[in-house]
Order: sequence, then C-alpha cells, then structure tokens
Amino acid sequence: MTKKPQVMVLGSGRAVPEKVLTNADLEKMVDTTDQWILSRTGIRERRIVEPGVGLSELATAAAQRALADAGVAAEEIDLIIVGTVTGDMKFPATACLVQDRLGARRATAFDLSAACSGFLYSLQVAQGLMTTAGYRRALVIGGDVLTSMVNWEDRDTCVLFGDGAGAVVLGPSDGERGLLHCYLRSDGAYSGLLYNPGCGSLNPPTPENVRERLNSIVMNGREVFRHAVTSMTEALTRVLEEAGIAAGDIDLLIPHQANLRIIEAVSKRFDMPQERVYVNVERYGNTSAASIPIAFDEARRSGVLQPGNLVAMVTFGGGFTWAAGLMRC
Ligand SMILES: CC(C)(COP(=O)(O)OP(=O)(O)OC[C@H]1O[C@@H](n2cnc3c(N)ncnc32)[C@H](O)[C@@H]1OP(=O)(O)O)[C@@H](O)C(=O)NCCC(=O)NCCS
Repeated sequence: MTKKPQVMVLGSGRAVPEKVLTNADLEKMVDTTDQWILSRTGIRERRIVEPGVGLSELATAAAQRALADAGVAAEEIDLIIVGTVTGDMKFPATACLVQDRLGARRATAFDLSAACSGFLYSLQVAQGLMTTAGYRRALVIGGDVLTSMVNWEDRDTCVLFGDGAGAVVLGPSDGERGLLHCYLRSDGAYSGLLYNPGCGSLNPPTPENVRERLNSIVMNGREVFRHAVTSMTEALTRVLEEAGIAAGDIDLLIPHQANLRIIEAVSKRFDMPQERVYVNVERYGNTSAASIPIAFDEARRSGVLQPGNLVAMVTFGGGFTWAAGLMRC
C-alpha cells in the first residue's frame, strides 16, 4: 500500500530560449534532412540560447514562474537544488547564482549532477532533506544548456539537443497530494557510452583538447537507445511495484523527452494509450534535466494534468542514471 506523501508541488514554471532552430536550419549546417530527423527522433525544432546566456538565466526565470504559481516568496525558500550538467561555471554552483538572482537569502543551494535524470534525482534528494533536516520550502530545478557542449559538425548528436529549464516549489503535503515514491538507479559501467570528456579535471580545456573537440558530447546512439528503453521500463515497473500501484491507474505518464521512438517503446510495454503519455519532444528536442519539469509545467498549465491526477515520471541519462517517480497532483 502507498505511503502518505510528505511533500507536494505548490507551483511550477518553465523557461526556454526564444531562438528556434528547426530541422531545416540544421539541413544547412550538417549532412542531414528534416525527414531523417523527424522519422528517427520525432524532433521538428529545438530552442537554443544566444551567446552570453547561461543556465542560471533560464533557471531563474523558471523558478520565478514557479514561485508566482505557488504564491511563495523567494525569502521563504530554504533549499534550492539545480539538477544540471551544464551550469554557468564549474563553480560556484548554478543553484547559488539562482539564489542570488531570486533574493532567496535563507536558502541552502547546491547543484546535482545526474545528466538527464537530474530533475528526478533532485526531487528525491529534496524530499529526503525536507523530511529529515527540517527544510520547509524547496525549489527544485532541472535545467541544461546542452547546446554549450554540442559539436555542430557532428550530425549524430547535434540534431538531438535543446536548451531549457523547469522548476517546482515543494512544501509539506496536504496529506493526500504529493510525491508518493521514487526509484533511482545508476551504473557507471556504461559511462563510456554517453559522456563529455573535456572541461573536467581529466582533460582540462587546453587549446589542444578544445581543438580535438573533447568539450563535446560523445554518444553511442544505438546502445544508448537500447539501454534507455530497458532501463526506463525497469524504473517504471519498480516504482509501481514498490508503491503498490497499477500502471492502469496512471492518469499521465511524463517520460524523458529524448526520442519519440523511445517514448513509444516504453509506453507500449505498459499499454499506455497515446492520450495518457505527454509528448513535446517535437518542439524542444532533448533538453536533458529540463525535459520532465518543462513537460510537467506544460501539462499542469494546459489542464492536461488536473488536481488529484496520478502522474508517473520516468527518465534515463548519462552515467548511466535512470529514475522514476509517482506523484499525486
Ligand atoms: C541517435 C539516433 C536518433 C540514431 O537513430 P538510429 O535509428 O539508431 O540510426 P543509426 O545510428 O542506426 O544510424 C543510421 C544511419 O544514419 C546516419 N545518421 C546519423 N545521424 C544522422 C543525421 N542527423 N542525419 C542523417 N543521417 C544520420 C548514420 O550515420 C547511419 O548511417 P550508416 O548506416 O551509413 O552508418 C538513435 O540511436 C537515438 O535516439 N539514440 C538515443 C540517443 C539519446 O536519446 N541520447 C540521449 C539519452 S538521454
């Protein structure tokens, strides 16, 4: 039987850059076609930041919208976690930059690195700190500017990614609504299938390393695809089993928006009808840690997700990391 939730979402928000990069634009940059990208990924366009815009700008805008939606003042926030692998800088944490921009002076702020699983990991960590360490109002943000590590000459990867941020404000549950259960996993044995070799302590951004494109994403697409389907299926199965909930009770499934074919393969395994699976990958591409909170906010604001609905979220990313969460909205 499901435990009573202890924390719930009080408000949500999202922010994506204005600039749109379409498949037709990419046709002019690399040897690809709109038809190839659409049929293999479901992506039509993605949003990309202008030079000079870092993650903190998007994350702050998403957070401000979430705070306004929740009716919570920045000074009331005592915890900020940003799930990201593309913070403005190596340090300070982007969460600290967001804290400053918001004026959330009372908050403890830090980033969490779990690639595309960053939002669900952050949600679970926030819940843990709220229930064991006395935090009352948390901002959980998932955001990435993956285009900052895209090699625009590599057609295998550059067509897949976009930029964005999504945020939720968490507070104590009203007893019925809130986060019911999370399931988090990782396996570093697969770190070599999806990674960014440069920019860290192993390969610092020397002129030579940059020339060799070590600062770009390296991916084995076929293997990542296969593991994504298997791991997302496992995470969703386990979170449902552990919570004692049937797949048929899910009102809305929000999968990580990496590839429409991955989403369809996972949904099919749970007999989820199309209308109960949220998809926006055609407009944003893969926004990494931002993909679930952006979709969550869209679904809430458009009325697709109603108060009382049961939402299941499931993700997969570099590490490998994978996770699922169940929430009563
Ligand atoms: C990347 C991905 C879309 C490729 O689709 P695929 O059906 O596996 O395609 P393949 O890798 O088999 O490549 C097929 C061919 O298309 C080519 N190709 C790759 N990218 C292309 C592009 N943008 N345009 C045109 N052709 C392309 C390949 O070079 C290959 O050519 P070849 O057969 O002559 O060698 C798919 O593997 C995928 O989505 N993987 C998961 C990626 C992901 O989600 N990463 C993030 C996880 S969080």
